[in-house]
Amino acid sequence: MANAAAPAPKQNMGEPVPRLDARLKVTGEARYPADFPVKNPAFAYLATSSIAKGRITRLDLDEARAVPGLIDILTHENTGELKNLKFGTAGVSTSIQALGPDILHDGQTIAVVLAETFEAAREAAHKVKATYAEQKPSATFGSPGLTEEDATKVSPTHKHVPHAGDAEAAIAAADVAIDVEYATPTQHHNPIELFSTTCVWLDDRLSVYEPSQFVYGLKNGVAQRLDIEPDKVRVISPYVGGAFGSKGGMTPRTALIALAARRLNRPVKLVVARDQGFTIATYRAETRHHIRLGARRDGKMVGYSHEGWEISSRPDPYVVAGVEESAHLYAFGAVQTKVNLVHADRNTPGFMRSPPVVPYIYALESAMDELAAKLDMDPIELRRINDTTTDPIDGRPYSSRSLMTCYDQAAQAFGWQRRGRQPGSMREGDWLIGWGCATAVYPTHIGAATARVRLLSNGMVRVQTAAHEIGNGAYTVIGQTAAERLGVPLSRVSVELGDTNLPPAPVAGGSRTTASTCSAVIKACDAIRDKLFRAAVTANDGPLAGRDAADLALTEGRVVAAGGAEEKLDDTFARLGASAIEEYAEFVPHGMKPESIKELYAGKSLGTGGPEGEKLMYALGAEFVEVRIHALTREIRVPRIVGAFAAGRILNPRTARSQLMGGMIWGIGSALHEATEIDPQRARYVNDNLADYSVPVNADIKELEVILVPEEDHDVNPAGVKGLGELANVGTAAAIANAVYHATGKRLRKLPIRIEDVLMA
Ligand code: MOS
Repeated sequence: MANAAAPAPKQNMGEPVPRLDARLKVTGEARYPADFPVKNPAFAYLATSSIAKGRITRLDLDEARAVPGLIDILTHENTGELKNLKFGTAGVSTSIQALGPDILHDGQTIAVVLAETFEAAREAAHKVKATYAEQKPSATFGSPGLTEEDATKVSPTHKHVPHAGDAEAAIAAADVAIDVEYATPTQHHNPIELFSTTCVWLDDRLSVYEPSQFVYGLKNGVAQRLDIEPDKVRVISPYVGGAFGSKGGMTPRTALIALAARRLNRPVKLVVARDQGFTIATYRAETRHHIRLGARRDGKMVGYSHEGWEISSRPDPYVVAGVEESAHLYAFGAVQTKVNLVHADRNTPGFMRSPPVVPYIYALESAMDELAAKLDMDPIELRRINDTTTDPIDGRPYSSRSLMTCYDQAAQAFGWQRRGRQPGSMREGDWLIGWGCATAVYPTHIGAATARVRLLSNGMVRVQTAAHEIGNGAYTVIGQTAAERLGVPLSRVSVELGDTNLPPAPVAGGSRTTASTCSAVIKACDAIRDKLFRAAVTANDGPLAGRDAADLALTEGRVVAAGGAEEKLDDTFARLGASAIEEYAEFVPHGMKPESIKELYAGKSLGTGGPEGEKLMYALGAEFVEVRIHALTREIRVPRIVGAFAAGRILNPRTARSQLMGGMIWGIGSALHEATEIDPQRARYVNDNLADYSVPVNADIKELEVILVPEEDHDVNPAGVKGLGELANVGTAAAIANAVYHATGKRLRKLPIRIEDVLMA
């Protein structure tokens, strides 16, 4: 619960209010799920497999059981009562849910060790001895034993294969064409907050404290696995210390800890070790891309062909299939796409910041730069020539599209007109300078959402919705929305989130939280306003009697008419004989069915937007970077990055800017640092810790400028919001790769780009 302590009067939507949770977080008062005190907990520690493929033939637990303080050990031999759920149902992140005996990836959980202390549980877990019948695993692209299939045939999500005209023929006949391949690595989210689960039973009721991007999904999923009524499960997650997609689906651990707590008749707490977080949850899949583009001599594009390959686990058909978004980006002419699912002996991947466009837009935006170079054309010009306000696939209009405004503003701020066209033309002493740019794009997702809002006659407001504070500023923008709508300072608003005792909100994924939940909050506030205004105008006497309710406003504890007449809120409440009004509202986005609310309660977060619906809805941006590469050492630096972004209405420029900055910094990481290395022999992650998993540090980040391009969009949703949490890291990697080309004349088509790659090029 965040109680607003922010200074009045700048409380309304559009104001750069500091985050309501900022102080709580820097003082350590914000309570993350693992921080909740529970009485007399037992501690759990996971034992994980040391092979990637095979079968457990024997478990020797004697040594583990001898550890003082050991309570119990759950293994495949004694956990039969858990139901396995299929991938793609109830938000399950993987169908690999059992503790064995079959081993489908390295680091699979094979035992849950329970002890009186964390240390005892850890020690005993390391003494769990498994004997395996081991088979040789397939780790990565190029490994023997991979299987490949057309994703549309098996994926529960990739259904629409964008296609227009005859791309083969168009590209074959084009004046200028390119035919290129790109590669992106495995990445892990590595949120600072580790994965944790604490389960407490009270009679037949279960409370789960777990960081979650979708508490209603987790509630329903756990209930299904335990085969109990969802009503018996409560999930509590008021703060999430970073998630980026990794806490969106249900991992097997939750039901295991619930089961352990039920058996022990005692609360059980699990905090997963950092290295185990690499294998017991999801990650961003490794991908490959084959892109062909064709254009006329004047730059007008005639064809786009994009085939992608994504690695998944053996059993699960997980793909992001970003061609469903990339195919709408420009006036391509003909389009053809295909996505291939490649099965390896890996854990199942999942959403990671900015799916599905990362990594597909990296590939497309790199290819656009290659095409511009081949046309000897400025890369901005190529995008301008092929800009569009309608869908290249079927002609539907964009709800709004400010891409070229973003390019113009960012180019201006960056000083792009001073760029030398030829690669290698901007050297300064020993430093090769490269300037590159790329488009950022993210689909506008809107989900069904509900909210309960209460206004007291003294002007205090309480907002309740089971949305999620994942570091995005959800408490703040939701509070601002209610403050503005009910005409009170933000300091009088309290916001409650992240608890299934509250009315449901959609998954905090796909950058949908603000658009969805604020639309529900607006609806609840408007119902409160209606009640008050009707009471004021239908009164027998009083300053507002007989007026038109449509002319009234709520401001600072008064109901005010357009002409200046007003009455105190107290008095209006008195007319209703009430001291509080509470309204519950259900927001169903345009084009969605009313049943989507029922589905939401049942743990299914349905949404619309992006390429679906009558209009295309996308947030867009343009990013410009300068790289400097040392001529001798090939050290790569990014001294400057400028991004201009248009994402509908900006409810809070401070939180928006910080999301966009974070995104661009992540993009620098993706371009130059980040990769999970896998041992091709053992299919085991090698750098599964924060010392070896390389991410940018402060010294890597120099000048970084965010430009918010104003954009009005009345089609997207009542809040006018497109969502931007996942927008900014989308274009960065391509912009940097393009800048590396401009500095060196070498195309490096595999991320990340490191010193050795530039040396070898
Ligand atoms: Mo985001 S990966 O959609 O949580």
